[in-house]
Amino acid sequence: VDASPSRRTTGLPTQTRSSPADDGLLRFPADFLWGTATSSYQVEGAAAEGGRTPSIWDTFSATPGKTHHGDTGAVAVDHYHRFREDVALMRELGLTAYRFSVSWSRVQPTGRGPAVERGLDFYRSLVDALLEAGITPVATLYHWDLPQELEDAGGWPARETAERFGDYASLVAEGLGDRLKHWTTLNEPWCSAFLGYASGVHAPGRRDPGDALRAAHHLNLGHGRAAAAVRAAVPDANLSVSLNLHQVRPVSDSAADAEAARRIDAVGNRIFTGPMLHGRYDDDLLADTARLVEWEQLVQPGDLAAAHAPLDLIGINYYTPTWVCAEGPSSSDPHGTGGASPWPGSESVAFRQPEGPATNMGWPIDATGLFDLLSRVHEERPDLPLLITENGMACDDYPNPEGEVRDPERVAYLQDHLAAVHRALSAGIDVRGYFLWSLLDNFEWSYGYSKRFGMVYVDFATQRRIPKSSAHWYGEAAHRGAIPK
Ligand code: NOJ
Repeated sequence: VDASPSRRTTGLPTQTRSSPADDGLLRFPADFLWGTATSSYQVEGAAAEGGRTPSIWDTFSATPGKTHHGDTGAVAVDHYHRFREDVALMRELGLTAYRFSVSWSRVQPTGRGPAVERGLDFYRSLVDALLEAGITPVATLYHWDLPQELEDAGGWPARETAERFGDYASLVAEGLGDRLKHWTTLNEPWCSAFLGYASGVHAPGRRDPGDALRAAHHLNLGHGRAAAAVRAAVPDANLSVSLNLHQVRPVSDSAADAEAARRIDAVGNRIFTGPMLHGRYDDDLLADTARLVEWEQLVQPGDLAAAHAPLDLIGINYYTPTWVCAEGPSSSDPHGTGGASPWPGSESVAFRQPEGPATNMGWPIDATGLFDLLSRVHEERPDLPLLITENGMACDDYPNPEGEVRDPERVAYLQDHLAAVHRALSAGIDVRGYFLWSLLDNFEWSYGYSKRFGMVYVDFATQRRIPKSSAHWYGEAAHRGAIPK
């Protein structure tokens, strides 16, 4: 029994429950959300069904040389047709929340004009199935799949896209707001801006640092427009944004390495947290990037106030820390290898990840980074609860001769990262839930189907699903509301 006072009546963060005797468990608050996350282009497939038109990821992945093996999300893991089976699996495992994203080009194919009801119907059916299964749905409005027509009209570097995003958000909020209360505007806008328009390793694959900075500003503005639209249509919405904040660590305590860390924090984090959480762009960021963009023209009166829309929660996506130093050679930037620099104004900074255990993506495993990040964001906005909207790892998972998929590395990763969350809760940081990336193995962007992040294995040829050992471990944690110590 949860003896802690309800946060709804006291406004205080829910305390972690202490067990009367030491039963070897770390207990989480009774209403902690135990979820998994996916995104439309990575799992849905059905790319040409129901009136959906191409997004920038359809175009990009169909361009030779852009993704591993030329893989695309045209079929993906067929979640569009199999969502009932997938929801049933979540229910059987005992999960209590699911984060998915809405495909803009399924709901509003040209990025303009009225909604396509068939597109909204798909998400209504998904949400209804989740609610029926007792699973809290959390919707992301934009997880990187911009309608191609809007890219052709200028994409995120064009101010118009932010306005169109606000209109689209209204359509989705009006269409689903009667049953869906948890809303996230953007997923990882850093990736949309800097991998999409600076390094070019993501769609639309452009390489212009000035355009990337313009995209970042319009994502901030678009976030503000979408937040206002959701508030207007769903007054009781629980509203957030999911940021992949970089847990930046200088490799030494030299002044030069501290300066490298400052630069990456500016263009990696504060370019979004500044406007969204504080209503400003910091002077050092503006100075670092002044030769690339005319900030004074770009930021119009009212933009920062719009981007600073009231939020109910901050969503944090965390995978690995980012170690930086002043001098190259830079070989291990976990975010930008293979293209031009994704760090406008900070191209001289080098990335040096430490030796040690890493995931199949090559990302070092370090749960202390999650604790540090939660602490940092909490200090910055102590009034806002946090939600871990993504965390997870890719492993080389395959069925054994008995047909089971064993992934002890993912179980260990989950254990360590959930223990870090528990530490944060114990330190008084109000964390409302955790979403494992991902429910299913899926289309990992430019890596195609070569990286498996799922707690459920997918045979991509047959679409057969096999819960991995991590799925059983995580389901047990959700069921008990606790993990082993
Ligand atoms: C963050 C992104 O939001 C998600 O789409 C991606 O698959 C995971 N990270 C893993 O790279």
